[in-house]
Amino acid sequence: MSNTVIAPSILAADFARLAESAAAVEGSADWLHVDVMDYHFVPNLTIGLPVVRSLRKATTLPFDCHLMIADPARWATQYAEAGAYNVTFHAEAATDPAAIAKDLRAAGSRAGLAIDRDTPVEGYLDLLPHFDLLLIMTIKAGFGGQAFIPELLEKVRTARRHVDTGHLELRIEVDGGVAEDTIAACAEAGADTFVAGTAVFGADDPAAAVRRLRAVATS
Ligand code: DX5
Ligand code: ZN
Repeated sequence: MSNTVIAPSILAADFARLAESAAAVEGSADWLHVDVMDYHFVPNLTIGLPVVRSLRKATTLPFDCHLMIADPARWATQYAEAGAYNVTFHAEAATDPAAIAKDLRAAGSRAGLAIDRDTPVEGYLDLLPHFDLLLIMTIKAGFGGQAFIPELLEKVRTARRHVDTGHLELRIEVDGGVAEDTIAACAEAGADTFVAGTAVFGADDPAAAVRRLRAVATS
């Protein structure tokens, strides 16, 4: 896997054609970002374990599951067992994030910690050695198609400095409003992993959109 990871979000795909949407980016994307929402942590409902299990059989792309759910301690490892490559849960929803990360790794996946728009990153820096990925929202979690908030890249810069000075093995992912006109700023701030929903599945040619995003992120 190259250092730059592009993870199209199937939230922006046609939910009646998830397998075709995954297939459309199989040769160009690195991961498939799967947004799980539960009507509790966020005011939206998307997909859950049964769909993840079925979709797992329909594509070879690694799954980057983003759990926007309450009580991740109860559910997160089931996504690992369903075959997710990475399982990310929200810091705001967890009482003991390090314990969940340990359980995820034991269940065979990588562990990600997500912080929403209004959550400062500073309080979580000491926890990062327990994680493989830090997801920094560049919108408020809950819906695709929102406008990118550039001020949130300050959190990416803070995390990048911490990761580099501490020599941590940790991917820094941005999610929300990532598109051809915003991805360069994300990369410049220190992100190496990029979620894009509308910019990929809203395009006529999703694979070409992924290639364009990668070209801008690595230029
Ligand atoms: C929203 C989700 C995002 C969403 C991004 O809470 O976490 O992954 O799919 O969609 P775009 O790229 O359209 O902002
Ligand atoms: Zn997401």
